[in-house]
Amino acid sequence: MITKNDELPLEWEHFKHVDYGCKIPDFRILQGDCMERLKEIEDNSVDAIFADPPYFLSNGGISVQSGKQVCVDKGEWDKGGTPEYIYKFNRRWLELCRPKLKENGTIWISGTHHNIHVVMRCLQELGYKVLNTITWQKTDPPPNLSCKYFNFSTELIIWARKSQKVTHKFNYETMKQLNGGTQMTDVWRIPAVGSWEKLQGKHPTQKPLRLLYRIILASTNEGDTILDPFAGSSTTGIAANLLERKFIGIEQESQFADLSLRRRQALEDAQARDRLYDKMRENAQEATILVNHMREKDRELAMQLGMTYLRAGDSKGSLLVKQGFERLGYICLHTNGDHPQLFGLTKKGFQIWTAEALREKGFTAENAPYYAVLHFDPARPVLFDKKINLHMRKYTQVAHIHRYSDFITIK
Ligand SMILES: C[S@@+](CC[C@H](N)C(=O)[O-])C[C@H]1O[C@@H](n2cnc3c(N)ncnc32)[C@H](O)[C@@H]1O
Repeated sequence: MITKNDELPLEWEHFKHVDYGCKIPDFRILQGDCMERLKEIEDNSVDAIFADPPYFLSNGGISVQSGKQVCVDKGEWDKGGTPEYIYKFNRRWLELCRPKLKENGTIWISGTHHNIHVVMRCLQELGYKVLNTITWQKTDPPPNLSCKYFNFSTELIIWARKSQKVTHKFNYETMKQLNGGTQMTDVWRIPAVGSWEKLQGKHPTQKPLRLLYRIILASTNEGDTILDPFAGSSTTGIAANLLERKFIGIEQESQFADLSLRRRQALEDAQARDRLYDKMRENAQEATILVNHMREKDRELAMQLGMTYLRAGDSKGSLLVKQGFERLGYICLHTNGDHPQLFGLTKKGFQIWTAEALREKGFTAENAPYYAVLHFDPARPVLFDKKINLHMRKYTQVAHIHRYSDFITIK
């Protein structure tokens, strides 16, 4: 595994300035100016583009990083020019990108007020159809030291498609599940990039994998090709490959092209890859599943009535206040870890019933005075593709909460 730039094997060095991806077919980095190298990419070959272009905000301002005051300047490539220059720059690369997209392809562009309004104008002039403007709200923004403005805590991401007429891919159901079972909105609360995604080195404006995870899942399918003309450390490529998509990135700085390659090489280690994949999928809004044991007799009745129940509290604390309960979308019934079946809840949340009320319905309910009752549709079992071992738990009969993606592959 390659860990440092100077440990790159000779053949990588040799190909570096030609095509970094020669050894990994699903990950190609072209080093150079995207205004030139975009021309080499075949027309109508790309399913989606994510572009994180210069925001042109390196103007000597200050911010805070790890508790220390730092200059916000990112590099020469991010220094502002005249409004005319910023317009021409954005118009040119957006013009070059459009023919690369397939007819149903889409493009995502991130920015702040420094560049995003110009990008919007160019998209409209060039014939793209704007679909959404996502507000990425950072859950942990650094403080604003000047105290002269509201604190900057958001970035905007425009989503547009190539064609005015041809419809685009949108994995609506997947987004709904990532959003606790309800329609996902255009405000995304995602933390800024973490140290766990900088193990191979740092890029000054690296995007979080969790952001690219959502973008890629929303607009592409397995096997699709994703292009990033301002690849930086290739967060787009890493997320794409973790999700079984192909990646082409263009990056002008050799130090960042090297970093991209090191990040990709790190995925060759299966354990590191799995760790990164799991971290990337961590999502505070994902729908959850209540896994609930029911005795055979009670389960038969539950299937007739479309309701299940669990103790509202016990000596170890109450399940009702466990994290994830507020996002329950499903119930998984099992009997001593056997015969799991999954159902969607028909009512959000739960009701509190007395043991007596449950016994009147015919249930056993004999261990506690109060129970949480959940309603589901027994006629519509939900298929799941992942094998889960419900015997692994010490107390198989104690209800617990799983993530939706523990049962169903999100791809
Ligand atoms: C905002 S950063 C992208 C960061 C990236 N999203 C990541 O997660 O690492 C923009 C990158 O574009 C590169 N860049 C700027 N102008 C370029 C150009 N004309 N052609 C290719 N790359 C360029 C810069 O070197 C920088 O690494």
